[in-house]
Amino acid sequence: MSEPIRFYFRAAVHEVQGVAPTQTVLQHLREDLHCTGTKEGCAEGDCGACTVVVGTLVDGQVELKAVNACIQPLPTLDGKALFTVEDLQQPDGALHPVQQALVECHGSQCGFCTPGFAMSLWGMYLKVDGAPARKAIDDCLSGNLCRCTGYRPIIDAARRMTELPRVQFDTAALAVQLQALRRDSLSVYAAHGQAFYAPRTLAELAQLRAIHPSATLLAGATDVGLWITKQMRALGDIVYLGHVEALKSVAIDGGVVEIGAGVTLEAAYTELCRHYPQELGEMRQRFASLPIRNAGTLGGNVANGSPIGDSMPWLIALGAEVVLHAVDGERRLALEDFYLDYMKKDLRPGEFVRAVRVPLPRAGIAFRTYKLAKRFDQDISAVCAAFAFRVDGATIVSARIAFGGMAGTPKRAAAAEALLAGRAWDEAALDAAMAALAQDYAPLSDMRASADYRLRTARNLLRRFWLETRPDAPLAARDVNAFAA
Ligand SMILES: Cc1cc2nc3c(=O)[nH]c(=O)nc-3n(C[C@H](O)[C@H](O)[C@H](O)COP(=O)(O)OP(=O)(O)OC[C@H]3O[C@@H](n4cnc5c(N)ncnc54)[C@H](O)[C@@H]3O)c2cc1C
Ligand code: FES
Ligand code: FES
Repeated sequence: MSEPIRFYFRAAVHEVQGVAPTQTVLQHLREDLHCTGTKEGCAEGDCGACTVVVGTLVDGQVELKAVNACIQPLPTLDGKALFTVEDLQQPDGALHPVQQALVECHGSQCGFCTPGFAMSLWGMYLKVDGAPARKAIDDCLSGNLCRCTGYRPIIDAARRMTELPRVQFDTAALAVQLQALRRDSLSVYAAHGQAFYAPRTLAELAQLRAIHPSATLLAGATDVGLWITKQMRALGDIVYLGHVEALKSVAIDGGVVEIGAGVTLEAAYTELCRHYPQELGEMRQRFASLPIRNAGTLGGNVANGSPIGDSMPWLIALGAEVVLHAVDGERRLALEDFYLDYMKKDLRPGEFVRAVRVPLPRAGIAFRTYKLAKRFDQDISAVCAAFAFRVDGATIVSARIAFGGMAGTPKRAAAAEALLAGRAWDEAALDAAMAALAQDYAPLSDMRASADYRLRTARNLLRRFWLETRPDAPLAARDVNAFAA
């Protein structure tokens, strides 16, 4: 029996039946509802023209976050609230301060990108009181592209919007609406011969996975969304993880932080940056864009297992484990053992990723991760490197090196690691390890980088790590929790 998709939209509960479970939020807005303020640029989460704000009830509190409507399947909205650029207009017809600021600062020229910028800015407006810092503005706008303005006027608008008379948003009233839409047990939406299962508990999820081992698991849809819009792939039945509260927990236990597979990338990196502020700070900022991090999950990144995914190299270098759950129990694997071959994982029928366990900083470990991509923001890595060395004085006790973009899976550098263990962390050891990387990796040439570029830069990233962590490195460079007592 199919239940309708129900979400809060334009101050009412909106119900949908009969559309394919893979229809995107953007398609529904533009093609079914004729709400054409939200634009389609790329249909792959890159340009931000489709940015909307989604409201969710979390522990009784409303969270409002910008996401890309073009890659979100519509049934994921069930129980949530959807806001588009048309919602910004005030009851008296006046522009919202976000829009007024864009007008005053000349933040719009052709206007195609403007609704997306307005919604990203509104997402920030709801959180800040005074003028936002430049870094916060850059982060907020990292997922929005504009071909006309050169960005400076839009950044001005981001500051100006907070100087205009404030417009309050009634989150308490929205919480009441969302509470009324809550479902406490499995819901099923079915149409066009395809089912969209939305379990609420771990037990329901495990049962469903056992019954439908080949259904597509869907978390934040920032990979799967592109299978729909770009690859036109038939997904079959879908099991959605986004309502399973048990997958959203973060717990610290015995020197490990366990991040539930359903924790968003933004929340996961926020937590991990509390423990590794300098080491992971840049990676957090450079991982996709804020709207992608608001939707995508750490579990999805790990489970997708792309050889160019950004979390795996540093997770592997730190010795993280993946927790695999099924009806008959759980097992834990070192993350590097999870990846068997290109996009092939050690995931048995009926299993799913429940959590990722990340060791917390330990004394004597020097750890860094570096991302090389053509752009600073919102770009996939050509090469991603991570190094975690246990050091005693000037000697390397053990070395863990992992790279993305260098093989068909995220992969450790066994030869270089073996060569470094027990040696002084000096230039001779560095040179030998740089040479050994050619034994560990035979990278491919593709549109992101040539094989030669990849091997050279991998070696140079190891040199950078040495420059920053060698025993006689200037303190300012070394002082990133490295060699912490
Ligand atoms: C514009 C854009 C920019 C991006 N930039 C980056 C980037 O900079 N770095 C990077 O690494 N990635 C990037 N990505 C990829 C993507 O955002 C990440 O891989 C993200 O973490 C995927 O998580 P998700 O929750 O959206 O997964 P989904 O798309 O929902 O799922 C991804 C895969 O994992 C499976 N899956 C999900 N959860 C589980 C689970 N718990 N158990 C078992 N299987 C599961 C799904 O079945 C699917 O195969 C980008 C994507 C886009 C669209
Ligand atoms: S249309 Fe480009 S991000 Fe959605
Ligand atoms: S105003 Fe033309 S793309 Fe931004």
